[in-house]
Amino acid sequence: MARMCFVPLPLLLLLLAISGHAFDFQEATIDSIQLAFEDGTLTSRQLTEFYLERISSLNPLLHAVIEVNPDALRQADVADRERRTTRRRGGLHGIPVLLKDNIATRDRLNTTAGSFALLGSVAPRDAGVVRRLRRAGAVVLGKANMAEWADFRSLSAPSSWSARGGQGRNPYVLGADPCGSSSGSAIAAAANMAAVTLGTETDGSIICPSDKNSVVGIKPTVGLTSRAGVVPVSPRQDTVGPICRTVSDAVQVLDAIVGFDEQDSAATKAASKYIPHGGYKQFLKVDGLKGKRIGILRAFFNYSSDGATKTRVFEEHFNTMRRNGATLIDNLEIANLSTILDVSQSGEQVALLAEFKLALNSYLSQLSNSPVRSLADVIAFNNEHTAEERMEEFGQIIFLAAQNTTGIGPAERSAIAKMSELSMEGLEKLMMENKLDAVMTAKSGAATVLAIGGYPGISVPAGYGEDGVPFGICFGGLKGSEPNLIEMAYAFEQATMVRKPPSFKQ
Ligand SMILES: *[C@@H]1O[C@H](CO)[C@@H](O)[C@H](O)[C@H]1NC(C)=O
Ligand SMILES: *[C@@H]1O[C@H](CO)[C@@H](O)[C@H](O)[C@H]1NC(C)=O
Ligand SMILES: *[C@@H]1O[C@H](CO)[C@@H](O)[C@H](O)[C@H]1NC(C)=O
Ligand SMILES: *[C@@H]1O[C@H](CO)[C@@H](O)[C@H](O)[C@H]1NC(C)=O
Repeated sequence: MARMCFVPLPLLLLLLAISGHAFDFQEATIDSIQLAFEDGTLTSRQLTEFYLERISSLNPLLHAVIEVNPDALRQADVADRERRTTRRRGGLHGIPVLLKDNIATRDRLNTTAGSFALLGSVAPRDAGVVRRLRRAGAVVLGKANMAEWADFRSLSAPSSWSARGGQGRNPYVLGADPCGSSSGSAIAAAANMAAVTLGTETDGSIICPSDKNSVVGIKPTVGLTSRAGVVPVSPRQDTVGPICRTVSDAVQVLDAIVGFDEQDSAATKAASKYIPHGGYKQFLKVDGLKGKRIGILRAFFNYSSDGATKTRVFEEHFNTMRRNGATLIDNLEIANLSTILDVSQSGEQVALLAEFKLALNSYLSQLSNSPVRSLADVIAFNNEHTAEERMEEFGQIIFLAAQNTTGIGPAERSAIAKMSELSMEGLEKLMMENKLDAVMTAKSGAATVLAIGGYPGISVPAGYGEDGVPFGICFGGLKGSEPNLIEMAYAFEQATMVRKPPSFKQ
């Protein structure tokens, strides 16, 4: 990580305390930060210094961040100056944001999906979501660690390890799995290395780490947010979304990043019909559960005796939702669920392997400069750097299988058709027949159901197990149902307020 000079944190806090208006950095939200900016008790520079200091003290333990931006403080100064002299740019003016390391920036930061193979590559431009973040006034704080290549290289590598970033740790229980692939983003938000982070998801990569790190993750409908400039897995399933500590923060970030991007034109154009006039913030309603019909997918709340705490906690949550005016339809099942959850049966594996090779080759060929220009080059790089890339332990079986594919042929087309059929007969039919606004799951079990259909989901903190490891609840729905999902997620969060900061238990 780049070295910098900081005001030591204790000194900064002391100075703020003496001034009588100590800003509470712990659990700070976008709203509380903006208020402090407005009334002059906090500057973007102070906030950025705080996060940089926090990263440098916690990262050796948590491995949540790969690089910090050597230009972050300068960007913060610009934001402070603009606030004094001109209009605010947007809702994220002066707010530092950590980006998952597969989201490209055209600046001094590297974009490597956690791999040494991409070190030194230069993106032709900022990713579409980064352009929007900068337009909203955000400060790019750095790149978050992730499962290398979004967990699409090896079947045996942990889902929160990358060669460049190391092994991500769960800040609640250091030995517990933080899940991936957006592990660093979720860990960093949980441990307050930033209030705002972005993750990406192909199948579970926002929902699962959010679930395990007691943070809020929004996995938007595919196409709602641009994937241009994101190291891809599959354009059919990939989506970029916020990971923050509160639903309100995540929604304000969603507002900043959604919309048409000519660099990802087909998908963002198709999904732009879902974006409500006036944005998503209007759906942060404390009575958002009132009148909602929510299906309980019991298979995902099915704990054995060691999950007695979770079973009890979820029953309490269901009662809270009912008291807040929701109608819960219990014991629902997604048709063909076992097929959906088996990647070799659903068609997902066949489709992803071929899509990955095409999409990665296209991403690599568009880079302004890169040591690798194709999946074949990356495979060769790994073979030549066995120690750094830990090839002996983890291998690259998924890469090899992907390299064997030859485009979207009959087998891939039939796999994709099968996934649509499973989605139609599964989630779509269940939602229609029961007139549902959403389905609920735990154990991040909805991820694959949502992934293969391009559907949205929101994970919200729901509790802590006897071992102290967090767990969440996920609200999922049909394409474009973000307004409904946000209403339910926000009302649930406000009624329960489960999240607490991590304690770094050994
Ligand atoms: C990006 O990687 C290069 C090595 O290729 C390194 O020198 C540089 O410091 C990295 N950038 C940041 C911001 O860490
Ligand atoms: C819950 O799990 C048990 C044992 O694994 C299984 O027999 C049962 O069918 C499951 N129930 C539901 C609703 O999935
Ligand atoms: C790739 O194809 C070759 C030749 O058909 C086969 O021997 C090999 O097992 C395949 N590798 C993977 C990982 O699928
Ligand atoms: C789903 O299950 C039904 C009933 O078992 C079966 O007829 C149908 O072919 C399955 N659909 C898919 C896409 O596998």
